[in-house]
Amino acid sequence: MFFLPFFSVTTWTLIVLALTLLLLYGIWPFNHFKKMGVRGPRPFPFMGTLPYFMKKGQHFTLECNKKYGDVWGQFDGLSPLLMVADPEMLKVILVKECYSTFTNRRIFAKDIFGPLKDGITMVKDDRWKRIRSTISPSFTSGRLKQVFPIVERYADRLVKTLDTEKPDQSVDVKKFVGPYSLDVMTSASFSIDTDTTVNPDAPLSVQLRNLLKFKIWPFFLIMALPFTQHLFRLTGISVLNKTSVDYFYNLVRRVQHDHKEDKSGHSDFLQLMIESEIQESDIKDGVEPSKGMTDPEIVSQAFLFIFGGFDTTSTTLTYILYNLALNPDAQQTLQQKIDVHFSKDSPVSYEDLMNLEYLDNVISESMRLLPTAPLIDRVCKKTFQINGLTIPEGTAVGVPLSNIHRDPRFWTSPELFKPERFSKDHGEDIHPYAYMPFGLGPRNCVGMRFAVMVMKMVLVRLLRDHCVETCKDTVVRHTSFLTDADTWLIVETRSHHVSNCFNINLLLIWIKYLPYLDMLHFFLSFFLSSFRYLWSLIRFFSPRSRSSLRLVEGNCNPPSTIKSAQQFYLLS
Ligand code: HEM
Repeated sequence: MFFLPFFSVTTWTLIVLALTLLLLYGIWPFNHFKKMGVRGPRPFPFMGTLPYFMKKGQHFTLECNKKYGDVWGQFDGLSPLLMVADPEMLKVILVKECYSTFTNRRIFAKDIFGPLKDGITMVKDDRWKRIRSTISPSFTSGRLKQVFPIVERYADRLVKTLDTEKPDQSVDVKKFVGPYSLDVMTSASFSIDTDTTVNPDAPLSVQLRNLLKFKIWPFFLIMALPFTQHLFRLTGISVLNKTSVDYFYNLVRRVQHDHKEDKSGHSDFLQLMIESEIQESDIKDGVEPSKGMTDPEIVSQAFLFIFGGFDTTSTTLTYILYNLALNPDAQQTLQQKIDVHFSKDSPVSYEDLMNLEYLDNVISESMRLLPTAPLIDRVCKKTFQINGLTIPEGTAVGVPLSNIHRDPRFWTSPELFKPERFSKDHGEDIHPYAYMPFGLGPRNCVGMRFAVMVMKMVLVRLLRDHCVETCKDTVVRHTSFLTDADTWLIVETRSHHVSNCFNINLLLIWIKYLPYLDMLHFFLSFFLSSFRYLWSLIRFFSPRSRSSLRLVEGNCNPPSTIKSAQQFYLLS
């Protein structure tokens, strides 16, 4: 109040005008969904609906779905996001109209991603198509079989490290499986043996951990004030740690150089990309060739494989082990299937690994309950009509996987972990557009088959001799989001496990099925009565029964015997 007199009326007018303009800027886009006739939560100036999300996490999306139906509008800062949870609409958006209208993802400011900015996740339209068709052959069955021995080697190494750990010790599962996933990625991508499984503090592992701790504030700033992305481009500020970026960049460059020099023929992903190298001059006047990648693009993809593949795979593996520990009955079934399918101590073959159906079911069910990527998105590149709704050009469409994966309209008892629901013969009728842990359509996860192979291998190797169990540090949540601190488990040898964990298994099964006891009681009585009835019939028609009947007849009391058989029937 003291400085009030120091400003002239003109200065005050200008200040008020500037503040009004700033406020208007902070609420300007908020009529986007009103114009479309789409409802949604009331946004805050500049922050949009982010404060709700920060407060409630995944519950916020669930609440919106319940309140507004399958289509609603959110704002990430000032950026509108049309949320769609209707599988029929998603079939059109993610699959049918992927190439024509919904080809690209929403990228806030690709320059803040340093060398990842040319990565396939960020590039658009024809450039995306070219890069996608160049890297897709890296993940055919033939290629996967070539990298299979690498995966097997590291799975063995990981399981051997358990022998050096004390039994009954609780482990941070993400930290335990992370090095395996990293070693497999670097080895399959570049043929370099990083061996972080044995040495978790190897420089590569440390640098990658630094890289994954990226700064979050630039995202919020750009969401709230979109013009600041130009400042980021001009100043060269990146969300990634510069030292770690340089470390990886140099590593990829060195390996790339060695591969070019050494003509012996590597079978890794980088080799395939090097073989497809094209020059910048091959892309004439923006007309894209159908295949091939330029040198900076190759470095970006190599970077992306490690960056995108390592964390997603280790997180998904962590969630699977967590779900198995919480559902010991499913774990026991899986172990029994593994015991039957793979002979002890003999190597695991690619075909056997791919043919173990229950393992597929367990992975699918865990990814349904806890999808590693709870939201995917696409941008509408030309105005599009769907279900009577007009989506204006430039609108981003968000897909809340975690909601759809737990929607009771598409899943029976969606909160329960039931791998059997994915069984080919006895499973549920799964809506093909209500399940998408790896995304959907032509722009889904390109590394899906590789990731599944990597996870299957370590699960088989681990559960053959060990089991996982909850401990006092395990946090049980009924949401589709866990933190790394929630997933502490005990990994024990199986023989040791049986005596130790059997009671807790029974207890957990008991608690889980408590609400179903009535039903269980009904089925048991039904089964017993039917059995007793059948037994009486057998006895009735068998020669011995007849003789006893005859004996009864001899006792002049046949009706009572027949009556008791009827009684059995009535009881049942
Ligand atoms: C269990 C582990 C993984 C999960 C859960 C996962 C999940 C996803 C999801 C949800 C998407 C977005 C799909 C969409 O928008 O429809 C995606 C894209 C992608 N993933 Fe994965 N991923 C995993 C492992 C991997 C691995 C191991 C690699 C590479 C070796 C990889 C490479 C990619 C790439 C390159 C894309 C972008 C594809 C494109 O834009 O065309 N992912 N992933």
